[in-house]
Amino acid sequence: MAAPSGADNQEHWSGKFAFIMAAVGSAVGLGNLVRFPYIAGDSGGGAFVLIYLACVLLLGLPVLVAELMIGRRGGGSAIGAVVRLAKNENNSKLWGIVPAIGVVTTFLVLSYYCVLAGWVLNFVFLSVQDVFSSVGSGAGLGAVAYNEMTEAEISGQLGELVSNPWQMVIMTGLFMALTIFIVSRGIKGGIETAANILMPIFFVLLLLLTISSLINGNDAAALDFLFKPDWSEVDGGVILRAVGQAFFSLSLGSAMMITYGLYMNKDEDIPGSARIVAFSDTSVALIAGLAIFPIIFASPVLMESVLAEDPGLGLMFESIPLAFHQLPFGGIFAIAFFIMTIFAALTSAIALLEVSVAWFDGDIDVSAVQRRRRRIRGAIILGGLAFLIGCMNALSQVPTSVANTFFNTWEPLSFIALFDGMTILDAIDTLTGSVLLPIGGVATAVFAGWVISAQVAKDEIGFKKASTFTIWRTLVRYVVPIFIGIVLVYGAIIGPMRARADAGSEAAQVIEEMTTPSE
Ligand code: PHE
Repeated sequence: MAAPSGADNQEHWSGKFAFIMAAVGSAVGLGNLVRFPYIAGDSGGGAFVLIYLACVLLLGLPVLVAELMIGRRGGGSAIGAVVRLAKNENNSKLWGIVPAIGVVTTFLVLSYYCVLAGWVLNFVFLSVQDVFSSVGSGAGLGAVAYNEMTEAEISGQLGELVSNPWQMVIMTGLFMALTIFIVSRGIKGGIETAANILMPIFFVLLLLLTISSLINGNDAAALDFLFKPDWSEVDGGVILRAVGQAFFSLSLGSAMMITYGLYMNKDEDIPGSARIVAFSDTSVALIAGLAIFPIIFASPVLMESVLAEDPGLGLMFESIPLAFHQLPFGGIFAIAFFIMTIFAALTSAIALLEVSVAWFDGDIDVSAVQRRRRRIRGAIILGGLAFLIGCMNALSQVPTSVANTFFNTWEPLSFIALFDGMTILDAIDTLTGSVLLPIGGVATAVFAGWVISAQVAKDEIGFKKASTFTIWRTLVRYVVPIFIGIVLVYGAIIGPMRARADAGSEAAQVIEEMTTPSE
């Protein structure tokens, strides 16, 4: 029986290198450079890193193989692919709901991803401006280290940005426009070309920054922070964060890798490519930690502030600029750092938008010209919509002391314990990262392991050894669903409810103490 396929005139990657660059580009992004370092530092250092590595190997890698297999075998769009494969196995078309939720998930991720990327873009401009102003002032290149600014000015840059809604909206819009432009040019002319140019530059910059950080920084403290296991921090919530982070970082559970699988050629090696993507993504997360922390910890003051509190986004936008401030040529490093980050963010945002555009493109056979038109229209409409939600997300970040934007006090999902006290950006981040991606991952694993027959899976994936196939199938059939199921119920439902109850009873106790008249 011939393999089913979607639209005949579907575009394909021009080769293995192009696919790998695009897939690695989608995986490597703000998740590796921003999310991973601060979650790891905050969730038990080495203990978190070990749990994370296990998640990538036992849960992420098998699901990645499953998603690429589903995409390539099914063809068309992510939803069409799953529906077609389900029908072929005489199973329900309702399986299409799984990638449909995935499309919504990627769209939601894009709506806040573009805001954070907008911040990074703003910092690219700031660092370039600063270097030029210090050179212009006659200080010369040798003295460039954010020389024109005081420390207070540097650490105030993030505060200034979030207090300025228009600035955020403009930066988000600029970033989104770039993403729309690339996606509208299609697979070969847009996504591939962007990844082929941006990713190699990204790797060179990451390498240079890491070497300089290790030479100039406090390596011992950084290694301690990142890799010394502190098991006392580990609970259900931390394990859920590791699972969520692994799926977010590898772009899994969201129909994204199914979509990139659609464009894979039949002769490409799925297990080999999946290994390269997982390995590169995980290495970048770990190396990013080594590019960031030694240089931050070179300053005792910065080290103390990072260790004392959960730095969150302040790590990237306050601590790092301050750390570069101390280095000779610091301004140049700052430019390199933010350019590297924006490149990684751009190749991920392209992938996020591509998922919805591929769905919008439709699963029908139309002429190449019509397809191209539909793509441009889809990229503009969907990218524009994500930008509008992005504006709400941006406005939610404005401090209430500066202005009331409505969105900075609105807590849309706080009736659920998991989203206690979260404004829209944090709620979307938690909803997608801790709930939708893991659920999407489980559903995809169940589909690949239980619905698709062993014969079809074996034929499409093409593992070289029979035993590897058996291991893969056991992981997607049993390990992924059972493990993530338990972690989800505990981390997303029981844990937060307990925390809420504890907070409630503490409050009750305080009220009781306050209202009980003292003798
Ligand atoms: N993996 C990307 C990152 O680490 C984010 C992403 C998630 C991209 C889901 C596509 C799909 O930043």
